[in-house]
Amino acid sequence: MTDTDNNKNLMPQHIAVVMDGNGRWANKRLLPRTAGHKAGVKSTRRIVELCARKGVRALTLFAFSSENWNRPEQEVSGLMSLFVSTLNSEITKLEQQGVRIRFIGDRSRFHDKLQHSIAQAENKTARNDLLQLNIAANYGGRWDIVNAARKLAQKIAEGELTPDQVTEESFAMELALADLPEPDLFIRTGGEQRISNFLLWQSAYSELYFTDTLWPDFDEEHFNDALLCYSKRQRRFGKTGKQIEEEQVKAV
Ligand code: IPE
Ligand code: IPE
Ligand code: MG
Repeated sequence: MTDTDNNKNLMPQHIAVVMDGNGRWANKRLLPRTAGHKAGVKSTRRIVELCARKGVRALTLFAFSSENWNRPEQEVSGLMSLFVSTLNSEITKLEQQGVRIRFIGDRSRFHDKLQHSIAQAENKTARNDLLQLNIAANYGGRWDIVNAARKLAQKIAEGELTPDQVTEESFAMELALADLPEPDLFIRTGGEQRISNFLLWQSAYSELYFTDTLWPDFDEEHFNDALLCYSKRQRRFGKTGKQIEEEQVKAV
């Protein structure tokens, strides 16, 4: 039991993770990059279980970016096969654990087999509500924003909306994850300190946490470190530190 387990207020409701470092994990062991991705699946399983156990409401994982198609064909096809086999082998367990799975991103580019596994996983777990697990696959933050803009433009063209009704609120409602609170905590493993086109809009006020730990090595202890770090942050949303402290006193 850690400090953060005891205090739900200090726990993020929604965590987003850029699961980076699989390739380097494999390189260090003189293994092919796909072995790193396979090892990464174990870490993914672990973080899902931890989030479910700790009462985190939503977890959004970056599995494949819209830019990852630029990788060598062999790696891309290895990743696609791994997605299908992982989905098929994990889905029953996820269903039993109370996890609801959803994919965000443009799935139309995936081959039929993967699209089928995705649809099946989403349908099978649709009634669960313990943890909302979002897998970003062929996802890009810019794609998400353009997609939302296109939907609003369509509504305007059909006379359903006027241009002055395009607000931050109506825009956000067309984005992926519109039904969830924005990520409180944004974790990136693997040592890089960048967003890489993940949740651009939704992470406007997320607390960023970067760690050198490679994704396959990211275990419970590393996760607890991230949670502890988060629990010590003061989220000000433009206000002063004093205002936040006063609000906290009033809330008790
Ligand atoms: C992240 O690990 C997984 C995917 C992008 C699918 P990488 O494959 O980017 O690992 P590194 O950055 O090369 O170590
Ligand atoms: C971001 O990692 C995408 C995923 C983790 C799926 P990358 O490894 O692709 O990011 P860059 O290319 O280093 O920015
Ligand atoms: Mg990488």
